[in-house]
Amino acid sequence: MAVLVTGGAGYIGSHTCVELLEKDYEIVVIDNFSNSQPESLKRVSEITGKIFPVIEVDLRNREDVEDIFKQFNIQAVIHFAALKAVGESVTKSLLYYQNNLISLLNILDVMDQYSVQQIVFSSSATVYGDNGRSPLKEETHTGAVNPYGQTKLMAEKILEDLSASNREWKSVILRYFNPVGAHESGKIGEDPGGVPNNLMPYLSQVAVGQRTHLSVFGCDYPTKDGTGVRDYIHIMDLAAGHVKALQFLENNEGCHTFNLGTGKGYSVLEMIHVFQQVTGIPIPYQIVDRRAGDIAECFANPKKAEKHLEWKAVRTLSDMCRDTWRWQSSNPFGYHPQSKMKTKKASGA
Ligand code: NAD
Ligand code: UD1
Repeated sequence: MAVLVTGGAGYIGSHTCVELLEKDYEIVVIDNFSNSQPESLKRVSEITGKIFPVIEVDLRNREDVEDIFKQFNIQAVIHFAALKAVGESVTKSLLYYQNNLISLLNILDVMDQYSVQQIVFSSSATVYGDNGRSPLKEETHTGAVNPYGQTKLMAEKILEDLSASNREWKSVILRYFNPVGAHESGKIGEDPGGVPNNLMPYLSQVAVGQRTHLSVFGCDYPTKDGTGVRDYIHIMDLAAGHVKALQFLENNEGCHTFNLGTGKGYSVLEMIHVFQQVTGIPIPYQIVDRRAGDIAECFANPKKAEKHLEWKAVRTLSDMCRDTWRWQSSNPFGYHPQSKMKTKKASGA
């Protein structure tokens, strides 16, 4: 019996594969590599000393998904596969609805056909939109403000309706806050293609010398120092949450939603400060205008996951910065070693 990991070559998927293998789960990974490299999964094998099937499948193709269920004895699914760039989702909304929703509908349909009715789904704190005050609880009113967020809200609704229509269907919806960092080995990490949208990958590319400076988007928010506040969570803590979710599914019916965050909010300036302190590398930055669509503050109330999943984030902000830097400095170009750009030497980690 194996756990099927969709989108397992991606950032969160690859780290979760390590955690699953270390907890002795058998896994099968499918991915279309639209936003990842097969190299990440080779490194998962290097870290764990285990090999596992990796199959190139586009989840939009139902027949290919069904072939996986014919070939392997699947017991549960962790569904990471999705497109996730907020800005791109605004300009290519149809692509996002097609990719994220058809993929989900196909996997659910095939699972139903094969009576595999346990799924862990990757949702996002983005479903809270600008509603409610942090710390955000799961029952906070939702409301997405872009097509990416809409796909997550629609997916959550589909899973809720499925469990309501058939109690055999068990699902856990995980709303991630801001995953950062890398596996402690430095062998796998976040490898955004092109210019990173998110803070930590951008900051670490500045540190390694690929970018001249960080732009800090706004300093006039009603926060502790005027810059945006987020709940950054170490990727390995997040990965551990998926194993807990699978265990929870074994004993609980219905559809359940959990925040995965630390419950602590840090500002952009605090992130720069801690990163500099941990790595010893100065991060030049400039304050610029706010980024459209950003909110001032967003952090979780993680109590529900602590109580019901028996899960808690344990790694610190220093751990997140140290591990980000270990990955970035030993893989300046992610999984693409060929680039000739000049980089700084690793230090401090
Ligand atoms: P990622 O892009 O690194 O990984 C997603 C993987 O899915 C990639 O390997 C991609 O190639 C694959 N994929 C996409 N569409 C596919 C398809 N049609 N068929 C097969 N494979 C497909 O992203 P990630 O950061 O690892 O995110 C994983 C999940 O978590 C996504 O659903 C994302 O929306 C969600 N999420 C991510 C974050 C974050 O900050 N990283 C925050 C909240 C939620
Ligand atoms: C982004 C996504 C959100 C997703 C979340 C987690 C957008 C608009 N939102 O949000 O949907 O759920 O990631 O992956 O993309 N910042 C800078 N300079 C930068 C980059 C970011 O100052 O170069 C600031 C931002 O203004 C924000 C903080 O850093 O205050 C974190 O930004 P980011 O990493 O993009 O995450 P979110 O804004 O939470």
